[in-house]
Amino acid sequence: MIIAIDGPAGVGKSTVAKLLAARLGYLYLDTGALYRAVAWKVLQSRVHPADPAQVAILLTTTSIHMQFHQGAMQVLVDGLDVTGQLRTPEVTAAASVVSAIPAVRDWLLPIQRQIGAGGSVVAEGRDVGTKVFPAASFKFFLDADAEIRVARRHRELVAAGRGGSIEATSQDLSTRDQRDRTRSIDPLIPAMDARFIDTSILSPDQVVEKMIATVSIGS
Ligand code: DC
Repeated sequence: MIIAIDGPAGVGKSTVAKLLAARLGYLYLDTGALYRAVAWKVLQSRVHPADPAQVAILLTTTSIHMQFHQGAMQVLVDGLDVTGQLRTPEVTAAASVVSAIPAVRDWLLPIQRQIGAGGSVVAEGRDVGTKVFPAASFKFFLDADAEIRVARRHRELVAAGRGGSIEATSQDLSTRDQRDRTRSIDPLIPAMDARFIDTSILSPDQVVEKMIATVSIGS
């Protein structure tokens, strides 16, 4: 069984997906980490993230693997564990840019599907329910008020010691949102059969309860 969770940044997807996976004893697949891993390699290689031809060439000599250990996910790029380096502002910005390149999306698709092939996965991202796992058993689309998403993301950044101004977080989020929602390939849109959850005034546990209720009724 695959459970797909999509939605914009700052909506609480990762927190909820991790909690749900732990509750069900499923694997947690963070598909954004794969886009971040490509961005990491692009930056290391001094390729411009907005250069689709050069990025596509780089992928021909790149390998990305995910490893799962006691519920935690590790991302290996060319055999090197880069998990701890994927959430810097530079990688975050570059991931948003490379994720709009069709060659990158095509290249990451089989990697995601192979992980899903094992079943019992909670997968989270932007196109998980529409493109990666269109036959997922359950699909959720999370959204929340823009100010609430900005405040959540800002709190996360502060907790990680990377907190800039709230205005900078707001700008960053709206730029990424706009790019995710308007790109020509696999834009962020709810799958037709996704259950919509507004997380604005819900705690992560409350969101998970709603999901568990849907999964219990539906299975
Ligand atoms: O969820 P995240 O912030 O870690 O994702 C990083 C970037 O990757 C984000 O800008 C959108 C992109 N992404 C995507 O295009 N498709 C996915 N399934 C997951 C992430």
